[in-house]
Amino acid sequence: MRIVVPKESAPGERRVALVPESCKKLIQAGYEIAIESGAGDAAGFPDASYGEIGVALESDPAALLRSGDVVLKVTAPATSASGRDEIGSMRPGAIYIGSLMPLRNLDAVRALAARKITAFATDAIPRTTRAQPMDTLSSMANIGGYKGVLLGAVELNRYFPMLTTAAGMVFPAKVFVIGAGVAGLQAIATARRLGANVVATDVRPEVKEQIESVGAKYVGIELGETAAAGGGYAKELSEDDRRRQRELLAAECARSDVVITTALIGGVFAPRLLTADTVRTMKPGSVIVDLAADGGGNCELSKPGQTVHVNGVTILAPLNIPATMPYHASLLFSRNLTAFVQAFTKDRVFQLDFTDDIQQGALITHDGDVKHAQTREALQSSSREEKNG
Ligand code: NAI
Repeated sequence: MRIVVPKESAPGERRVALVPESCKKLIQAGYEIAIESGAGDAAGFPDASYGEIGVALESDPAALLRSGDVVLKVTAPATSASGRDEIGSMRPGAIYIGSLMPLRNLDAVRALAARKITAFATDAIPRTTRAQPMDTLSSMANIGGYKGVLLGAVELNRYFPMLTTAAGMVFPAKVFVIGAGVAGLQAIATARRLGANVVATDVRPEVKEQIESVGAKYVGIELGETAAAGGGYAKELSEDDRRRQRELLAAECARSDVVITTALIGGVFAPRLLTADTVRTMKPGSVIVDLAADGGGNCELSKPGQTVHVNGVTILAPLNIPATMPYHASLLFSRNLTAFVQAFTKDRVFQLDFTDDIQQGALITHDGDVKHAQTREALQSSSREEKNG
């Protein structure tokens, strides 16, 4: 089985899907691996580090993709519209494994189906203990939470920790974390390590204990109806709960120096939680880091990919944070993909088994069909919208 890894081509992307550590493991297990020349450069893994362990280097991406039984990638493969037609270069019947974010990349899904690629999105795998080592979403969210706090600390006009200096004491910064999933819990832990006082909220009931276990104080409203949608995902709140939550968030934001927002619905879309009025009540010099910017942003005033200043409040809305820490992001991503490959390969052949819960959850396209129900619905509604002009 030949596994191929093209260089990532999305603007600003610096990660690579397989690092030498994983290649070594896969080669020892008998797989053939080929990588596009320069694919690991931006992440700190030069060609030589692959070549010396027996990875084949290929400079022509189309030839590389054509030769692969399995294609591994960090971001959705490019369609013909991008000028680098990765999907068109893959062999019909080949297997794609990597992040795909199918609901945000419907064109890629259409092209993968048309090319008869069996595509597994590692961002769609179920949240089970067995799937955890393959969960790229969690690995990347962890980086987001960590780096988001550092970005906030750099912008802030004061210390995070309490300090006793010869010039007297300074008090610790107050950090408020909204949404305590993987990114949020890492943000809390990072802010605590830097010495801040941390308060956090979430809408799933089981999270209170997790927030407290990483050293923050929990705040939250009593919800009228549950916000847990299963599998660790949250659903949208009722109108009444939304209004009451907005009041709580406004009061906490007014007290905070740094607000880190990480809330997502269904792991994809960002609910608007911080209104312009809430931002106006915040202290001058305070900072919002909107980590949900890739999903549209949790703050009404965020401009994804930009930094804006409103009434002395700085609002950061960074996109694709993992690409800013490409060494560790690639290392963890690569371990996740390797775990996926190894879990489903027997005698060096990938075993398709759509009764397996992980394969079933992650499968997006196969043999010309879109197999993932939510993606199929999104495609149908997008073609309805196109027809209606
Ligand atoms: P996510 O990225 O879907 O959402 C982030 C957080 O935002 C969630 O905790 C969600 O409850 C929260 N949220 C949504 N709407 C909100 C609102 N209006 N106000 C405040 N918070 C709001 O979630 P993520 O980080 O991917 O994971 C959530 C949970 O899933 C984890 O805590 C974990 O328990 C579970 N999980 C389990 C895995 C496994 O077992 N393999 C892997 C990954 C996550």
